[in-house]
Amino acid sequence: MSSSLPLPPGSSGLPVIGETFGFLNDPDFSTKRHKQFGNVFRTNLFGRSTIVLSGVDAVRFVLLNENQYFVISWPPSVKTLLGSASVPVQQGSLHQQRRKLLVQAFQPRALASYIPTMTSITQNYLDRWAQKETIRWYPELRNYTLDIACQLIVGISSGSQTRFGELFEIWVKGLFSVPLKLPGTKFSQALTSRQLLLDEIERVVKARQSQENIESDSLSLLLNAKDEEGNRLSIDELKDQVLTLLFAGHETLTSAIASFCLLMAQHPAILERLRAEQSQFKNDDLLTLEDLKQMDFLDQVLKEVLRVVSPVGGGFREVIQECEFDGYKIPKGSQVLYEIGQTHQDSTLYPNPKQFDPERFNPEQKLEPFSHVPFGGGIRECLGKEFARLEMRIFAALLVRNYEWELVPGQNLDLQMIPTPQPKDGLQVKFRRKA
Ligand code: HEM
Repeated sequence: MSSSLPLPPGSSGLPVIGETFGFLNDPDFSTKRHKQFGNVFRTNLFGRSTIVLSGVDAVRFVLLNENQYFVISWPPSVKTLLGSASVPVQQGSLHQQRRKLLVQAFQPRALASYIPTMTSITQNYLDRWAQKETIRWYPELRNYTLDIACQLIVGISSGSQTRFGELFEIWVKGLFSVPLKLPGTKFSQALTSRQLLLDEIERVVKARQSQENIESDSLSLLLNAKDEEGNRLSIDELKDQVLTLLFAGHETLTSAIASFCLLMAQHPAILERLRAEQSQFKNDDLLTLEDLKQMDFLDQVLKEVLRVVSPVGGGFREVIQECEFDGYKIPKGSQVLYEIGQTHQDSTLYPNPKQFDPERFNPEQKLEPFSHVPFGGGIRECLGKEFARLEMRIFAALLVRNYEWELVPGQNLDLQMIPTPQPKDGLQVKFRRKA
């Protein structure tokens, strides 16, 4: 019986706030505790007793026991601002039904139809950056991924430059804030922005419904998507889902793409190999899905980028049934955090884990299931995984073919980890078109 087992080792920290401050501010919070306690430790985060688990066995245990021992758990601010219909918030059979509908926007045919838009927005940004001498790349990359998300998910052009983009930024800032509905708090501002964003999405949806020609974006696919019983998403639900996809696809991708840019500046020999691979393809900027599938070395590099700097550090779940892991009791009512970033740093899986080495993902190397989980896994695996991989490949291919960049000296390249990893000084580079 698990009841007679001990709780995992660890400390609950201070009353109420527990060890939340260290978790949010110390990049080595988990590493230190794993060194001391092993792959499972106990702490207190966001006012809740939390068990932190890392390593292949732990990740498999959490992700394959969704709905049996664990259900998704979000801080109240995220739950309210994403909306109750949002897929990451839904649980059980409703969650599974909704995934079946939403996944229709990420099928191979849909993805192929996104390529021209992704390519032209990427090319426009690259040309624009080449006209400036020095750029703070991170904020630029945020605008870039937001423009693609707005265009392909909701059909709004140059989203980052619009009122919609402004409201979106205010809304994002409230997601991980204290949920105080008082005038002027980040949370209140985000709630107001949420309503205005939903109004705008509704306006676009209504216009779309009266339009004859079908746009090639997720919104058109989701408007027409039906589940097995022939039901469609209601407008209210569609609005929550669209806002969720915009959020899920924007922050994470910015972090991933920025890490690629930084790591390539730091590993010129690997960049040269990527350029050599790209020279095998026609350099006419008309990328096809077939071309993209053949970029094997690029694929290895991107997998290693997502291993070394995982955009999502891990996932929280609530324990709905007491269970046992590794000889320890995991009590009902506590929360668990399965760790992606820490698992990717496990030296038994990845010898010399700090080293950037795309050969780890050479197709001849056998990868253990659940050892590389940048997109999570199980029934909650990232819905936008293929969208993300597509955008990263298009960006990287066009960038390395025709452009060069070097890091501006003297800047702080340490990563700020919350909400997603990003260089503290915004990644400043000298950028130009290749001679
Ligand atoms: C879920 C990572 C891009 C939509 C997740 C999860 C991870 C993840 C780890 C699971 C979290 C958990 O288990 O608690 C990433 C990374 C991305 C990325 C690293 C980019 C490099 C995207 C994009 C979209 C998207 C582009 C949509 C356009 C979603 C959705 C979920 C999700 C809707 C919730 C799925 C569910 O609860 O069933 N993502 N993601 N993501 N992602 Fe992504």
